[in-house]
Amino acid sequence: MDKIRVELGKDSYDIHLGYGLWRELSSFIMGRGYSRKTLVVTDEHVGSLYGEETCQTLKRVGLKPKLATIPAGESSKSLQVADNIYTELIEQGMDRKSPIFALGGGVVGDLAGFVAATYLRGVPLIQMPTTLLAQVDSAVGGKVAVNHPLGKNLIGAFYQPEAVFMDMELLSSLPKREIPTGLGEIVKYGVIYDRDFFAYLEEHSEGARSLEPATAMHMVKRSCEIKAAVVSKDEKESGLRRILNFGHTVAHAIEQVTGYTRYNHGEAVSIGMVAAAFISRDLGLVGDAEVTRLQKLMTALDLPQKVTGVATEDLFAVIFRDKKTVNGKVNWVLMNDIGEVTVTSKVPSEVAQKAIAACIA
Ligand code: GLY
Repeated sequence: MDKIRVELGKDSYDIHLGYGLWRELSSFIMGRGYSRKTLVVTDEHVGSLYGEETCQTLKRVGLKPKLATIPAGESSKSLQVADNIYTELIEQGMDRKSPIFALGGGVVGDLAGFVAATYLRGVPLIQMPTTLLAQVDSAVGGKVAVNHPLGKNLIGAFYQPEAVFMDMELLSSLPKREIPTGLGEIVKYGVIYDRDFFAYLEEHSEGARSLEPATAMHMVKRSCEIKAAVVSKDEKESGLRRILNFGHTVAHAIEQVTGYTRYNHGEAVSIGMVAAAFISRDLGLVGDAEVTRLQKLMTALDLPQKVTGVATEDLFAVIFRDKKTVNGKVNWVLMNDIGEVTVTSKVPSEVAQKAIAACIA
């Protein structure tokens, strides 16, 4: 079992990481003074696998859990579904000390987090991510949101959980496609922050792909440590936290242009990282060697590097409307080296367009 501290003053919390964390979860709850009534938000897939065990664990420590099961998929990240959960919370008489447990992937975590941030102006939130992607990305750092018909994550808040429980055993039921989806974000941490971690992934690509326990533990732990370090310095994304968006400028555009159906987030981020690497090389920030190294690792991990069936102009049009555009400027996160990135808005549009075009199959 490992613990990673996210240092945020009075909002600091621990990420608990290991195989089989039910007892750990019980001890955590016993010390908190929570109200007995509690809601476990999950989706139909994860709920059928782990809903019962979660509720039993909570009952054993005196809580009275109710399971709120939402349909699986991005369309549940809506104000309508949030409203259904508010109704459930009100009808059950849940109060300010009633915790909400988010048991699932990114959709469940973001939605339950948004509800926890807003119900009674904030109730305790415990993230229990069940996908590799949610473990290394959305469950840590406090970004919670729902989507608006006009764009993803447009209605949200920064709201930190009181704890995160990453039970690696729950990954055993992960659909196959979800592994490269999480690995894309894991590679990102090596590129943006830690050259040695990147080298570790190169050496352990086989173990990474198969989620071999020692490798899986190390890569999730190191990813969370890096995310925790970044978020601790810049919780609200006024500077440093932007480096976490490496690959995301093009990724958001790919997701939007393809209607959020063809590529999931991690796959789009993988392609976006290649585009950002090409821009970095074309601006002379890195050489061919670093870009080739990134692409080689991505190939070894089965990560997609090209998008199919979209036009450069369409991607480009969306990029300049992305919510990370401030005053019409796109903040690109670019590589200076493996393990170091820089944020700049000074990318000539022809350079960006050429790099993006090179990522279209
Ligand atoms: N997913 C990027 C962040 O949490 O800032």
